[in-house]
Amino acid sequence: MRLPNLQGLNRRQLFQSSGLVAAGLVTGGVGVASRPTAAARSNDPVRLVANENPYGPSESAQKAMSESLGDGWMYVTSEGRVLKKMISEREGVGEDHILITAGSGELLKMAGLSYGMAGEIVAAKPTFSMLVAYARDTGATVKEVALDQDMRHDLSAIEAQVSKDTSLVYICNPNNPTGTMLEADDLRSFIDGVESRAAVFVDEAYVDLLDDPKRNAMVDQVKAGKNVIIARTFSKIHGMAGLRVGYAIARPDIIKRLRPLQMSFQNCMGARAAIASYQDLEFQAFSKNKIQECLSVTQSAFEDLGLPYTPSVTNFVLFDTGGSVRDFALAMRKKGLLVGRSYAPYRSWCRVSMGTVEQMGRFSYALREYYKG
Ligand SMILES: Cc1ncc(COP(=O)(O)O)c(C=O)c1O
Repeated sequence: MRLPNLQGLNRRQLFQSSGLVAAGLVTGGVGVASRPTAAARSNDPVRLVANENPYGPSESAQKAMSESLGDGWMYVTSEGRVLKKMISEREGVGEDHILITAGSGELLKMAGLSYGMAGEIVAAKPTFSMLVAYARDTGATVKEVALDQDMRHDLSAIEAQVSKDTSLVYICNPNNPTGTMLEADDLRSFIDGVESRAAVFVDEAYVDLLDDPKRNAMVDQVKAGKNVIIARTFSKIHGMAGLRVGYAIARPDIIKRLRPLQMSFQNCMGARAAIASYQDLEFQAFSKNKIQECLSVTQSAFEDLGLPYTPSVTNFVLFDTGGSVRDFALAMRKKGLLVGRSYAPYRSWCRVSMGTVEQMGRFSYALREYYKG
């Protein structure tokens, strides 16, 4: 199965790019790209396993953190409010529609707990497991619905599983681990059909990486008063996974329902880094470009070797190893590359996260060695 590439990649550019990388001629780029990044420290082994972004945190975020070093003795004060105000202005919703959480992971767990206690959860399989797993671990019933043949959410099959007992439907868009996305208007119609019966949780962890984030984000649904919860994170485009900042966008009554379940409160460094990075549009563009470049290099290696892969619009790709993912991952580990695992029912498919452009060149080289000897 060769899936179409939705980002419309130019094949010639891909091969040129991958050739340069394999020859070691592509560096981190110029300008912002040549600044020292954590990438240099992420080579032992190269982490292509957790959908992190080694181009972050931005210099602006790092500066904000280094200026905060001496303030570590204080609980967070105004930072949460400042961040909330910035998000509310950019998204065009009131501050009462936003809840800052410790990564979006905390929000996923809060929703899994709150809605899982109230009824059944419906989700795709495979998808990002945090909400579903937490709901199940705390006693909820979860109904899982297979992806369609293009490895996308099967919205009509999901809708068919929504019953009077359903309290929440989890939609990860773009989806992790497949990297595939839904047509925005299909998702809007789905929300229309479901939200009077159950909350629709749209996990938009990777939405900033899309060509048109505004059209694909479901904030308009929240503004229209629908029963929708959006999750966002600073872990991906901002490259701040270790700093634990995420947020919800939802109707005030939903925010009020979720807030009491919050277990941690804001990390001061993380909040200050997020405030700086949120305003740093240059870094966000840089980060997105680098991820695109990494995808091109990686997908071009898959094309070269005839390995089927998903048309990812995120910072990871699922591809068919054609054999045992465990054996493949072990072989990569020996070359100093940590790659992801498989996800049922796609047993021979492996997820690989984007590192730096150089690291993806290393991965592509190792891939060619593995398949061509
Ligand atoms: C789809 C999705 N949602 C949420 C998260 C959690 O991210 P964080 O808790 O770092 O915000 C991840 C992490 O990989 C993810 O892939």
